[in-house]
Amino acid sequence: MANPPPARPTAAKPPLANPLCVALDVASVDAGLALGRAVAPHAGALKLGLEFVMACGPQGVAAVAGLGLPLFLDVKLHDIPNTVAGAIRALAPLAPAVLNVHAAGGPAMLTAARAACPPATRLVAVTVLTSLDNADLAATGVSGGAAPQVRRLAGLARACGLDGVVCSAGEVAALASDWPDGLFVVPGIRPRGAPARDQKRVTGPAEALAAGAGLLVVGRPITAAPDPSAAARAIAAEIAAARPQAG
Ligand code: C5P
Repeated sequence: MANPPPARPTAAKPPLANPLCVALDVASVDAGLALGRAVAPHAGALKLGLEFVMACGPQGVAAVAGLGLPLFLDVKLHDIPNTVAGAIRALAPLAPAVLNVHAAGGPAMLTAARAACPPATRLVAVTVLTSLDNADLAATGVSGGAAPQVRRLAGLARACGLDGVVCSAGEVAALASDWPDGLFVVPGIRPRGAPARDQKRVTGPAEALAAGAGLLVVGRPITAAPDPSAAARAIAAEIAAARPQAG
């Protein structure tokens, strides 16, 4: 590596004891609060992404934060360094536990994001969206497939001092072996029988956990279920059963 990573922030970042993070992809504060309350007994974190943030704004985010669970603010920032740093400073009062940017923004952007991010917030970089397969990637000019691209972008994120990456479970094991304190956030989680929908690199909860995922992001298998609370409970139980030191 040409340059050593910048000093990592030293503020305490308590571990996310329960790795189940439920994606509240809804467009109203009432719907977010209702779903959040339904899944809260079984979730370790709640995720608010672009749909919720665009529709409900920072006040909506603050309302969901009031439920008391750690918040993953999935805003996938991707712009020039100055703009991304400004956006992170604007989001800082919401005190998310986890915040993300796109690794493809490049080293200067990642470094600026790191510098702007509050030390208690884990800053992770999206590598290759779980909705993309190798053919989709090739259509964007990236040949060689998802695995090497994820590895490349994860190395970049780490070199810029980020806390981890977002990737599919299929890539985690290879990354975790030489990034032991990295946080690996894995979407595209599908319990057995759940439809993949627009996700392409999918895995089951136990499989993702075994691969080394630190945060399992689950949306529609819970939020589109007839009983979201029961669906969250079932996935939490599968995760607990798969954890070596569950409880
Ligand atoms: O409904 P589903 O379980 O597919 O939801 C996955 C969630 O994770 C969505 O909110 C999506 O925006 C998010 N996500 C993703 N892939 C990434 C990063 C985030 O699917 N690389």
